[in-house]
Parts: sequence; C-alpha cells; structure tokens
Amino acid sequence: MLAKTPPMGWNSWNTFGGDISETMIREMADAMVELGYRDAGYEYLVIDDCWSELQRDDSGRLVPDRRKFPNGMKAVSDYIHSRGLKFGMYSCAGVRTCAGHPASFDHEFTDAQSFADWGVDFLKYDFCYKPERADGPLLYYRMGLALKVTGREILYSACNWGHDDAGKWIRSAGAHMYRSTGDIQDNFSSFRDIALSQIPNLCYSNTGCFNDLDMLVVGMYGKGNAALGGCSDAEYRTHFALWCLFNSPLMIGCDLRTLNGESRRLLQNRDLIAINQDPEGRPPFLVCCTNGNRYSFFRHLADGKFAIGYFNLSDDDTDVICSFTDLGLPAASDCGFLLRDVFTGEEWGPVREYYNPLVPAHDCKVYLATLVKTA
Ligand code: GLA
Repeated sequence: MLAKTPPMGWNSWNTFGGDISETMIREMADAMVELGYRDAGYEYLVIDDCWSELQRDDSGRLVPDRRKFPNGMKAVSDYIHSRGLKFGMYSCAGVRTCAGHPASFDHEFTDAQSFADWGVDFLKYDFCYKPERADGPLLYYRMGLALKVTGREILYSACNWGHDDAGKWIRSAGAHMYRSTGDIQDNFSSFRDIALSQIPNLCYSNTGCFNDLDMLVVGMYGKGNAALGGCSDAEYRTHFALWCLFNSPLMIGCDLRTLNGESRRLLQNRDLIAINQDPEGRPPFLVCCTNGNRYSFFRHLADGKFAIGYFNLSDDDTDVICSFTDLGLPAASDCGFLLRDVFTGEEWGPVREYYNPLVPAHDCKVYLATLVKTA
C-alpha cells in the first residue's frame, strides 16, 4: 500500500522552475543521500514541469527534452533508484502543462505507460489548460485508472488546487495526495494563508490520501522560482511545524546542495517528522484561536502520545493560549502532560490545567506530550 503516511521527498519546481537538467537532478539525488535526507524519510525525487520537448513523437509519446535530459528518462530513473530513492515525474490533466508543454488530456493511457516504462514511482498531475467542457473530476478518474493498468505501483499526486471540493472525491479517484490550494510562495503570508485555509479540511487527510499543502519553501531564503520575499528561520520553523502537524506531504523545494545547517536540521527534525508520519494519521484539532492570529492545536498520536502546537502568527511576541479544559482535560481529571520541546529536547512536567508559552512573533512552539495522572 502506498502513502500509509504522508509522502516525503523533493520537487524541482520551487527553486528551479524550468531550469532543470540531468546533472542537477543527479546532484540532488546525491545530496538527498549524502546529507541525510533519505535517512530522515525523504524518498521521492520529483521532476516537475518543463522536462519535455514541445512536441510528441510520431507515435504520440511524450519526449524528454534532449538538451536537459540527453540520456532520456530511464537513465535518470536508474540513477535515482541506484541511490535508494524513488523517481517522480509531472504531467497535467489539460491539453498543456502550466508552463505550456504537451500534457495528458486524451493521452492519459499512453503517457501513464511511458511513465511506467521509465520506472516512474510518483506522478504529480496538474490542472492547467483543461478544456472548458471537460469534467475536472473525470480527468482525475481517468489518470487514476491509466496508472493502475500499467501494473506499476505509482503514487498519484493530484494537483487540482482544491477545485470541485477535491477533498471530498479525489481519494475515490485513486489519488494518494492532493493539492488543496493555489501555489505557495517563499514568504510568510503565503504559507500562513494556505495553512489557515485548510483548518476546516483537516479531516480530509488520512492514510492512503493526504491533503497536500504544497511543496515546502523552507531554506529558499528568497532565492529561486517560487521565491517572493523569503522567510526568516522562525517563519520556516512555523511553516514546517504546521505542515507536520497538519498531516501534509513533505516535499522539499529548496536547493539541498547549498542549504545551511539551520534549515537542514529543521527539515530533518526527528520529532516533527515523527508527528507528521504518525501511523494513525489523525488530524489535529484547533484548541484556541485568539485575535485571529494565535493558534493552539492538539493532536492524538499512536502509542498514547500527543502533540501540542502553538503558533504565533501575529507581529508581536506574545503568549499563545491552551487551556487543557478546552482539549478535553478538566482540572477535576487530576491529569497533566509531560512535555518535550521538539526543538530543544527539553522535558518537564507534569503540567496541569493550562500551558500558555511566550512565543516570538511568527514563531511556534511544539511539544510531544504524554498524559499522566497527577493525583
Ligand atoms: C502549477 C502547480 C505548481 C507547479 C507548476 C508548474 O502552478 O500548482 O506546483 O507544478 O504548475 O508549471
């Protein structure tokens, strides 16, 4: 079974856009392995848009760009597999990809077979240039079947930006993850707005099919294709912690070859990844929202553990509120939480009744919690 837990990997779009090549992809595969990302759980290496020639060949097949990928896609695939990683590619349900390359509308079964022949393990399937009268969900049903009939196990990453209430039917199309919003950019308001927009949809994300809040911008620092302003390290912490707590797939979007230590440690934070990859896949619930910009969330994990996340999305350093009564633990229960800070490893407790940490502006605190009797 694919996508037992949120898929993890790297995708070329956020940093490289159309500026991709076999050399860069090989180097990224090496970086994923040698710098510890593969061991931390990031397994898919995905080539996004702009990988193909502008024309299909005489038999109607997609052709890899001869300049960018001179040895074809099977060679790329073999290299990625030789590094113990899985290979992802991109197409689109419309007549052209978002960047104007040929796409899979009415070619679904041919293209899925090409992907299978190249050893592809993951297909991101976008939604640009849909013919006006074509039914959006039906196009995702089609590719779902086209992938299945190849006989190859291919993770289906649907990307229709949440159109047609995607969360309600896209699991039925065979998708293993699905984008629910427009494109992320490398700035605070972009990831904040995406996360807040998905609070009502947290229930539509679970084992087998996860709500994809879009590729991560952690570590871009204002450079690359989707960079628009950049973020501070505190903002990247908040972004990554939200994606982890919200069960989103974790697809890195920065250049791993040159990433600094701070962002590398964040992307490889074992506790946050464990929360994201929790086998029960339960969504968190909102405990408290103050002023529309300070949020606390609580999430049940497997093995009797919990996660509590505090997010200060305001521009001032401030306490973020979490009264334990509001998450189901009245004072009369005589219970409290042992807490462990996922960023510092510090442990203390039991804490009873409430815990309202001071959180710097745009920053977060996340704790792994164990529930204990205190009386
Ligand atoms: C859309 C998708 C992006 C990216 C681009 C490529 O905008 O949402 O994630 O794949 O297309 O052109």
